[in-house]
Amino acid sequence: MTISDARHRVEELRSVLDEANYRYHVLDDPTLSDAAYDALMRELRGLEATYPELLTPTSPTQRVGAPAASQFAKVRHPQLMLSLENAMNEHELHEWHVNRVQKLLGPETPVSFVVEPKIDGLAIALTYEHGQFVQGATRGDGEIGEDVTANLRTVRGIPLHLRPSTSGTTQLSLLDEPAPSGSERDALGLPSAMPTRIEVRGEIYMRTADFEALNERLAHRREKLFANARNAAAGSLRQKDPSITADRPLRFFAYAVGPFTGVELASQWQTLSYLRRLGFPVNQDVRYFERFADVVTYCNAWMERRDQLAYEADGVVVKVDAFAQQRELGVVQRDPRWAIAFKFPAREAVTRLLNIVVNVGRTGVVTPNAELEPIELGGVTVRNASLHNEAYLRERDIRVGDQVMVKRAGDVIPYVVGPVTASRTGNEQVWAFPEVCPACGTPLERLEGEAAWRCPNFGICPAQLVRRIEHFVSRSAMDIVGIGERQAEQFVSLGWIRDVADLYSLTPEHFVGVEGYGSKRVANLLQAIEASKQRPLERVIVGLGIRFVGTVAATTLATHFGSLEALIEAQPAEIEAIEGMGPVVAASVREFFQRPENRELVDRLRSAGLQLTGAAPRERASDSLVGKTFVLTGTLPTLTREAAGELIKNHGGKISESVSKKTSYVVAGASAGSKLSRAEQLGIPILSEEQLLALLL
Ligand code: IVH
Repeated sequence: MTISDARHRVEELRSVLDEANYRYHVLDDPTLSDAAYDALMRELRGLEATYPELLTPTSPTQRVGAPAASQFAKVRHPQLMLSLENAMNEHELHEWHVNRVQKLLGPETPVSFVVEPKIDGLAIALTYEHGQFVQGATRGDGEIGEDVTANLRTVRGIPLHLRPSTSGTTQLSLLDEPAPSGSERDALGLPSAMPTRIEVRGEIYMRTADFEALNERLAHRREKLFANARNAAAGSLRQKDPSITADRPLRFFAYAVGPFTGVELASQWQTLSYLRRLGFPVNQDVRYFERFADVVTYCNAWMERRDQLAYEADGVVVKVDAFAQQRELGVVQRDPRWAIAFKFPAREAVTRLLNIVVNVGRTGVVTPNAELEPIELGGVTVRNASLHNEAYLRERDIRVGDQVMVKRAGDVIPYVVGPVTASRTGNEQVWAFPEVCPACGTPLERLEGEAAWRCPNFGICPAQLVRRIEHFVSRSAMDIVGIGERQAEQFVSLGWIRDVADLYSLTPEHFVGVEGYGSKRVANLLQAIEASKQRPLERVIVGLGIRFVGTVAATTLATHFGSLEALIEAQPAEIEAIEGMGPVVAASVREFFQRPENRELVDRLRSAGLQLTGAAPRERASDSLVGKTFVLTGTLPTLTREAAGELIKNHGGKISESVSKKTSYVVAGASAGSKLSRAEQLGIPILSEEQLLALLL
């Protein structure tokens, strides 16, 4: 290979790798497999080793450099890195609008706003000169930060050089939203110039799942764990050895610019579009509003969505859009008057761990639970929290009497994150996991490779039985009103019930002389039990409590097999072959019905008169859509999304939630969002409601 061939190939490889990086980290739409990426990277490394003269500092091979000498050098920010004033509720948000924005700009002046998620990470500033990344620094105190350039180079979402604006695959219009109307904005357009020098500001953060996986890894190596994703991001960025940072799942979002030359920017919204065009990741959930009422609505909607996010957000930031208006409003100390953070209620807090108790679940798994000094978390009082399992306690060295960090995330049960070791007094007690089941005294067992201890006394342990009854009568299973934890415990301790089928043998005589059971209550209870015999097959399957079989899997199995008998006889391969089922469910079903006590239970439920056969599978209207997968997005003119979905299924088609190469059609209505743009990117045919209906004929 001549040097000129090599140069050519090196340039080609760099452009392919840069593009792959951009698609993966910025567009979240990977085009290269990891293996292909690695192979090309290896080839590039090889060429650069053979021809060192071709090496450049912004080559994709140059993300990991040598460790920092000792301390990180201090960097003075040429323009202060500001912080934000907080609004703790809607009222304070309105006050900001009225008393700051409207008062200073004049109540009649039109003001537009940009609303952005406030990701919980740490702020950084990235400097680019002639398109090349030259320096990256932490915020520090806003005036002086630390030079973490070498570490930031390893973050793959941070471009090492800016994208030329002519590149065909760049998304020009921002973020799926239609461009805001507003005559002024249309006139502005988007600058195509490359800045001679620009400082880009944004947040380094870690996704929740990545943070949890990282902690798992650290726990395995018996290293210190991070208390939350934010600490994990900060700790990972401030590593002396960039190869450690490179190994941490750090991400970046750009949300502002510092000083810049060679380009004109007039507003926040335009800046975000521009940053995206330059190749920076910009959050998909940023929005532009011309009315403050819409800002408030979006802020509230965001709070609702908090739990569905892949990352921790502690609020949303509302910014006045126009830079001219921002300048007019100015800054007080470090807080700009033109922006405010609408904060979500905290969901992490420190409280005292009073005691640890163990719970026996319906499959015998024994879990430790924390009894806490009651504490307010995101609007509810928390008294108990999960401690997961023995290893979790041990890895974090959680002791009774510790001050512990407790966290609650949406529907998830509150859990103990870890102890605040700095607050220890020396009176904390190391807690020993019990060796026998607290309910039946059977020695606990642990399966190879599992974290959980189990009580193996499956048939008899009263604690397991109580949990199984609770599950059997629950709303998603047999829905027997009038029986809960208290009654289940009572029936078991009175010796009336040895498995859930015994519920159907209860008679009025059982309750004679039992306190609290008047004849009316007994009649209602027995009536509720009787009525449950009519529940459809899928409810019975849920009620059996097979691991990994919840409502969705049970419904699929009931529809496919039509009877419990057929399901019992099913081979794992047959279950696995059903759409939506997998090897885990298949193995679990198999294991459940191989146990003689479970088959016996089924026999007894049958004798009690339960419905063990399902409704006949639904007749299809036609087969016109068999083999086709549809994604629905936006508001259709006449059909609801459910109705459209039913229609497609009735004709043999399938519905999927996300657009991929396997999608046959995307049916799009008004205000369709990212799914529509994804479909356009992938070249998937897009149908209107009318075109969908035409397909059915
Ligand atoms: S703007 C107005 N935008 O919040 C200048 N900050 O409390 C302030 N943050 O240090 C920065 N997401 O670490 C801005 N979309 C966003 C943000 C954001 C998170 C953080 C950032 C900053 C802190 C200010």
